[in-house]
Amino acid sequence: MRGEDLKRAAAERAVEERVESGMVVGLGTGSTAAFAVRRIGELIASGELEDVRGVPTSARTAALAREASVPLVTLAEARPRLTIDGADEISPDLSLIKGRGGALLREKIVAHAGEEGLVVIADGSKVVDVLGEGPLPVEIEPFGWEVTLEHLASLGCEPTLRLEGGGSQTGDPTRPYLTDGGNYTADCLFGGGIPDPAALQDEIQRIPGALESGLFVGIARIAVVARESGVEAIEALHGSP
Ligand code: A5P
Repeated sequence: MRGEDLKRAAAERAVEERVESGMVVGLGTGSTAAFAVRRIGELIASGELEDVRGVPTSARTAALAREASVPLVTLAEARPRLTIDGADEISPDLSLIKGRGGALLREKIVAHAGEEGLVVIADGSKVVDVLGEGPLPVEIEPFGWEVTLEHLASLGCEPTLRLEGGGSQTGDPTRPYLTDGGNYTADCLFGGGIPDPAALQDEIQRIPGALESGLFVGIARIAVVARESGVEAIEALHGSP
């Protein structure tokens, strides 16, 4: 199977096994989460799911859900029971790096709002021994961003302000990438990896301009991971988000 087929297999398995009629579901952002949104739409259209509503984690996902005829609600109207979303890196204890697709703050708010936390969907390439093989995105306040980048660097990383047109983004590469909330993103490369994600998360939270990091610790309950050899569900040992 190609990478896209593996993403689809993980997404479809998670939807088929975890989403029930009457449920409010958090809808993640990214290419893997898009397969889940489309599958929910198909199951609603075929009548296998009834009265399912989604809370989108980005404008992109909201547009896709509308296209797939998945009814949407806001967090003011309902809370998701669980959220289905992709990840950039998944460690063995289901700590995650998310946000390379640019929606981490809303993804974390929605995942945290649900009593059953996050169901992560991914192809096997996302599973790592230690987080930090690639950059950790941190959503930051635009005011004083230069100072915030200095603070982040003092934690032992090389931070780069994300520009439009960088990574998977499109747009003008001379302008900072803006999240749906109008914030900037710093992509922080930790040379030695991130052996203690919970400790780093605490340190980042102490920086005034850092709104939220892409470290998701204790939020994912289950990872549905698709490899050539098959689809596997990995359960986390921790409790509630
Ligand atoms: C979006 O902000 C991210 O957290 C994505 O969920 C993550 O980057 C995974 O995206 P892909 O499924 O496209 O790899």
